[in-house]
Amino acid sequence: MPAPTHHFFLCTNQRPPGHPKGSCASLGSHPTFERFIQNLEEKNLWGKMKVTSTGCMGPCMAGPVLVCYPEGIWYQGVQPQDVDEIVEKHVLGGEPVQRLLMDPNLVG
Ligand code: FES
Repeated sequence: MPAPTHHFFLCTNQRPPGHPKGSCASLGSHPTFERFIQNLEEKNLWGKMKVTSTGCMGPCMAGPVLVCYPEGIWYQGVQPQDVDEIVEKHVLGGEPVQRLLMDPNLVG
């Protein structure tokens, strides 16, 4: 199977309630992940797009955090209702969704 053109990594890390760093799971990343899987199936994007859940990638307070490779594009605050737009514009249209791009000061 060829490598996907867009491989998304979505943080689904969970920390205990009240933890000072928060977590992407507490900010809604599991429903976001499910919406990605629905998009894969509904739009038959197997082989073009892949989605992998990950542990913490650093900028927890900006979660849910999403990174797309090979481009290395970081998104912040990705909610389920944002996923269709990411798939349509980024995966199928080749243009990242500007309004969701992560603050460059938070990346890394
Ligand atoms: S918990 Fe998701 S980036 Fe840290």
